[in-house]
Amino acid sequence: MLDAARRVLESGWFVLGSEVIAFEKKWAELCGVAHGVGVGNGMDAIEIALRGLDIGPGDEVITTPMTAFATVLAIMRAGATPVLADIDMETALLSLASVERCLSPKTKAIVLVHLYGQVRDMTAWVDFSRTKGIYLIEDCAQAHLATWQGKMAGSFGLAGAYSFYPTKNLGAPGDAGMLVTNSSVLAKRAESLRNYGQSERYHHPELGLNSRLDELQAAMLGVRLKWLPRFTERRRQIAEAYRAGIVNPLVQHLAAPEEPSSHVYHLYVVTCLQRDGLQAHLRRKGVQTLIHYPVPVHKQKPCKALRCDPQGLRNSEQHALQCLSLPCHPQMSDVDIHQVISAVNSFRGD
Ligand SMILES: Cc1ncc(COP(=O)(O)O)c(C=O)c1O
Repeated sequence: MLDAARRVLESGWFVLGSEVIAFEKKWAELCGVAHGVGVGNGMDAIEIALRGLDIGPGDEVITTPMTAFATVLAIMRAGATPVLADIDMETALLSLASVERCLSPKTKAIVLVHLYGQVRDMTAWVDFSRTKGIYLIEDCAQAHLATWQGKMAGSFGLAGAYSFYPTKNLGAPGDAGMLVTNSSVLAKRAESLRNYGQSERYHHPELGLNSRLDELQAAMLGVRLKWLPRFTERRRQIAEAYRAGIVNPLVQHLAAPEEPSSHVYHLYVVTCLQRDGLQAHLRRKGVQTLIHYPVPVHKQKPCKALRCDPQGLRNSEQHALQCLSLPCHPQMSDVDIHQVISAVNSFRGD
């Protein structure tokens, strides 16, 4: 990484240069798509995908309330209206039945979040979006290298949005993101939108944003990419150890992936009716945990008036109260893993 940083610093070219082009090409190839457009972060990748598809004011985009706030904020920043569908309890992923209840004549797209690193049921999602004549956009911020029936996350819909925020499975030492797509029209539009809406130097046929990927981040990502397959394998080993070793009846696992490669365990999430007690117990045992996410999007102040599934968002609300993310990162040792397992198993509740 230091060598790569030196190369960039000595080149004197810092934004949208050969390092960005090289990483765009590498990541697009890995995703099995024709184009990668490097942008400032994962949120912008979603906004740019929507704007690049002419989705904006007056249009509705369906997504999940159980996601990073950025997913919904990106839809709002594109000028479109988010509509929130509920999740399935066993996976915490968007429920197709609930999405169906949210459809309206204004629906233009679904932003499907591969939450926690899981890619599931893609044939159903692709068929559904085709039949209904709406775009499928994948939020792949948590799903680097996740494949489903041999195809990579981000290659199912019209566009995939990746984040390379430092904590992601592939993280830069700063903010970075990428839009991946097979559409050359969308890729060209995205290249313009990320750079003020510029078509050629100093010509701006539309209003874009400043969301350019810089050379340092791209060069670092190019280096770190070499570690990603090994790190992903380690995440899977940790998950397998948790799934087999955590047998406390007070703690539930989410559904196992349909195939091992379809989950990259950005997070290993369990649920527990006494979640806060479990978290406090683990803290006392020296195990740090987080909650993804404690407040579903429809409970956030700017989102309280959003249209939701007419049957409500009960599963999302329940999941927000019960979910807990156990430590899961490639630097964990076997001793760490067993410490987590025995700490969870020793929780007795009230
Ligand atoms: C599911 C999801 N979507 C979108 C984002 C936004 O990515 P970024 O932080 O790079 O804007 C994140 C990252 O936090 C995320 O986890």
